[in-house]
Amino acid sequence: MKYYFAPMEGLTDSVYRTVHAQAFGGVDRYYTPFFSPTEVHKLTPREVRELDPANNPPGVIPQLLGKNAEDFLWMAGKIAELGYTEVNLNLGCPSGTVTAKKKGAGMLADTDALDAFLERVYAACPIPISIKTRIGYQSADELPELLEIFNRYPVKELTVHARTGKEMYRGTPHLDAYEYVCQNTKIPLCYNGNVNTLADAAYIAERFPATQAIMLGRGLLSYPALLCNKAPKRSDLLAFHTELRERYLVTLGSEHAVHGRLKEIWLLARGTFEEDKKYTRRIQQSKTLAELDGAITAMICELPIKPREAFEKRSDSLF
Ligand SMILES: Cc1cc2nc3c(=O)[nH]c(=O)nc-3n(C[C@H](O)[C@H](O)[C@H](O)COP(=O)(O)O)c2cc1C
Repeated sequence: MKYYFAPMEGLTDSVYRTVHAQAFGGVDRYYTPFFSPTEVHKLTPREVRELDPANNPPGVIPQLLGKNAEDFLWMAGKIAELGYTEVNLNLGCPSGTVTAKKKGAGMLADTDALDAFLERVYAACPIPISIKTRIGYQSADELPELLEIFNRYPVKELTVHARTGKEMYRGTPHLDAYEYVCQNTKIPLCYNGNVNTLADAAYIAERFPATQAIMLGRGLLSYPALLCNKAPKRSDLLAFHTELRERYLVTLGSEHAVHGRLKEIWLLARGTFEEDKKYTRRIQQSKTLAELDGAITAMICELPIKPREAFEKRSDSLF
């Protein structure tokens, strides 16, 4: 089984990917949060930095979001020039501002336009295209028609986030819909949605043997060492924090921005420790980077770290 780190806009940027790979590893592929190619056909300085292979660990797959085939092909060409061997198409973003423009999961709602888009991009893209999709926009009833369309193209790999677009990130994934996908395609498959423990991943692997890869998002942000063979040491976690802070001070520029980003990362990563509200509160209430640094360091040095065995049980997220 292969394990992928899900793309998480605002979180798994090039700094996070690089530092995570150095500190913990265990991830076969990191998907970038989506880039939105525009008709300008010029990479922004941020895009140049985020895509530069020198700023990334090995095994990164850039993701694109958009409905214009010309713009997609232009940016896929730039990605190929940088040496990447695959580009991922986002058919899953459920945000209202994205779907209103018929992008992301919104593309699933108009199957004629989707088919025409896929025909254009698969005919001319210089590198293979994988797809990350929902099981429908409004309802899983849309899945058979969508899969029939995907089956007509040389999709490198299909990652299925087993929810509809309308469901956003709520509720239990529809494993019956994923089963339908397994039974009705030969495209290599990656499962995504609510895999929070190693036992959850083992359950998916056993129930759906067609699965070649499992993509984890929130579970891996919560316990970044999940895919290592052992629980993290305090020194690993301190090194992870210090490296994130130093690199974000360079890329984000202001202490204020670094404070915001690290607060978000560590409020998610507190799943690494036995719960203690006092430490969480201290992080939440920190006003400056120095205060936050103290709060994070205290959490890392003083709180018991959850053992790896805690993740060898099924969570209730897939029931
Ligand atoms: C804050 C946030 C940002 C996300 N950004 C992206 C994105 O840029 N591209 C994408 O395909 N999915 C994105 N997702 C969806 C995740 O990749 C993943 O499909 C989802 O979180 C379900 O997996 P999980 O239950 O393992 O977290 C995002 C999710 C969250 C919560």
